Amino acid sequence: MKIGSLEFEDNVFLAPMAGVTDLTFRLICKEMGVGLLYTEMISSKGLYFNDKKTHELMKIEEKEKPVALQIFGSDPEVMANITNDKLNKIDDFAIVDINMGCPAPKIVKNGDGSALMKTPKLIGRIVKEVVKYSNKPVTVKIRKGWDDNNQNAVEVAKIIEDAGASAITVHGRTREQFYSGKADWDMIRRVKENISIPVIGNGDVFVPEDGKKLIEETGCDAIMIGRGARGNPWIFKRTLHLLKTGELLPEPSDEEKIDVCIKHLNLLCTIKNEKIAVKEMRKHIAWYIKGMKNSAEMRNKINTISDKDELEEILYRYKQNS
Ligand SMILES: Cc1cc2nc3c(=O)[nH]c(=O)nc-3n(C[C@H](O)[C@H](O)[C@H](O)COP(=O)(O)O)c2cc1C
Repeated sequence: MKIGSLEFEDNVFLAPMAGVTDLTFRLICKEMGVGLLYTEMISSKGLYFNDKKTHELMKIEEKEKPVALQIFGSDPEVMANITNDKLNKIDDFAIVDINMGCPAPKIVKNGDGSALMKTPKLIGRIVKEVVKYSNKPVTVKIRKGWDDNNQNAVEVAKIIEDAGASAITVHGRTREQFYSGKADWDMIRRVKENISIPVIGNGDVFVPEDGKKLIEETGCDAIMIGRGARGNPWIFKRTLHLLKTGELLPEPSDEEKIDVCIKHLNLLCTIKNEKIAVKEMRKHIAWYIKGMKNSAEMRNKINTISDKDELEEILYRYKQNS
């Protein structure tokens, strides 16, 4: 599939997830063949005001390219300004993606993220401005709508296409649903049938067979996996393999999972301060070991540890007993 002038052979992408898809996790997913990586969402206002934390979220490594940088915001002027003054000066990322799906109250209360689904005209203005200034393809990530009574993804997608975007990701849930219920893949199909730019289908791909079904049922050009990739980066390799060959590769063994988990820990410690890295690793470890023998006990144990070597040792011992 193509996004602007960029060609993607592997059409299984990693979804942007704040607090999850940092540089380290993206590098781990890259080794599993993921086609395109997205950064965590980055505040357009944070960029505008040169916030230090915002800049840290934008670190991209050569090895992980191509990467889409996701911004959020709702002020067309601010977004045009940062596109022209900041984003155009960075060559590390290949695509500017605009977040119009985040349901978090702290985002929505400012009119950002999924709140934009309530103001299609403003969506048009934002996309037009960013496209006008950007020297890279611009894509947009939307939801099915705001709530059950306002399921306007098709209308919004047409506006986004007319405003010059190069692709649209559709998460088949309303804002009201947050992450509950089932993603409505039929809405993804309807969007795909109504626009001619590529559509990336998103929502509820947890095993490779889901990914295949999502493409078959909706005709989408690529799929994006979020929660199904947490502690499970193998999902990219396995889904791509299934799509290309029809063969379902076996799930990784517990040993393999712990080995990658240890690798993840060591990599994170080279990128971040060790104390912070160990703390941030807790949630990732819980995802890697989910469903393994004595995982609840193990989870409690790692939550008390703040030393990297000790944590690594405990993971090795857990592997030997798995
Ligand atoms: C912890 C978490 C953080 C997320 N952060 C973002 C984000 O920064 N930007 C975004 O567009 N979507 C974000 N999402 C939504 C995902 O990208 C995705 O649309 C959603 O999880 C549905 O896909 P899934 O069923 O494969 O998880 C987040 C989801 C989760 C669970």
